Amino acid sequence: MRRLVREIEVRPSQLVLPMFVSDAPGEISSMPGVRRHGLDEIASAAESAVAAGVGGLMLFGVPADDAKDDQGSQGWAEDGILQRGLRAVRDAVGDDTVLMADTCLDEFTTHGHCGFLTPEGTVDNDATLAAYVSMAVAQAEAGAHVVSPSGMMDGQVEQIRAGLDGAGFQDTAILAYAAKYASAFYGPFREAVASSLEGDRRTYQQDPANRREGLREAELDLAEGADMVMVKPAGYYLDVLNDVAAVSDVPVAAYQVSGEYAMIEAAARRGWLDRRAAVTESVTAIARAGADIVLTYWAEELATWWK
Ligand code: PBG
Repeated sequence: MRRLVREIEVRPSQLVLPMFVSDAPGEISSMPGVRRHGLDEIASAAESAVAAGVGGLMLFGVPADDAKDDQGSQGWAEDGILQRGLRAVRDAVGDDTVLMADTCLDEFTTHGHCGFLTPEGTVDNDATLAAYVSMAVAQAEAGAHVVSPSGMMDGQVEQIRAGLDGAGFQDTAILAYAAKYASAFYGPFREAVASSLEGDRRTYQQDPANRREGLREAELDLAEGADMVMVKPAGYYLDVLNDVAAVSDVPVAAYQVSGEYAMIEAAARRGWLDRRAAVTESVTAIARAGADIVLTYWAEELATWWK
């Protein structure tokens, strides 16, 4: 009877697996079970996730330290690690899944910020936008079906849409990280991408104390033409997610971030949590709050459980 009356059943096709591609592959100690894939392994890892039934893949590039510069130019270089990774995955899986790319400079800059810096050291919103456009076009050329601006620069969705259209990529969609909070739960991700960040992102990411502002940020991205909007992190922001889902006329995604993953993995390893039950509950709650799409490092495993 519980099955008969269940309200939420997450389909594997609603899940997106974030993946890391790197010239220096290896394990990520704070994210057990997640790898930085080398170019030679990323295609088979993608094929395996697609075979399990995930709805999409979100690729992040991790450049070598000596490939970083103050502008993050490997972010839009044709032979940048992310573009090479996208090509390898698209060649392998074609249109069998939705291939997404993280459109942000922080992995590629020596200072680790998501944009160009002013001489005073703060992020220069407007100067950064042109780089995001170049990056989005490079990602579309490399085979991304969806670009995902995650740097929280104002105007990024509008500029990227115009840039993609101008370059002939009218069909490339934009998943906007609309409400993205300056969260402590990105900690393990920074290890995953070997981030050089010093300081924090509080001049462009949101204050965790602000609920109304999350909705406002999402509304701006909707007005600029986002094809999907995202709330991030997920589990601690279910109220924001619920607000956004109530007004959005496009699909709403939520990103269960690295720290949310690491906490459950760490506790489960000590026998303090029932891993499968905790993972299931955490992702079901995100869908219940209104997410149509969930980005989660457990996507492939969940897809096999929920076939
Ligand atoms: C920015 C970006 C971050 C994450 C996804 N995109 C890091 C940040 O904003 O500091 C975090 C994802 C996670 O923690 O799993 N490119």
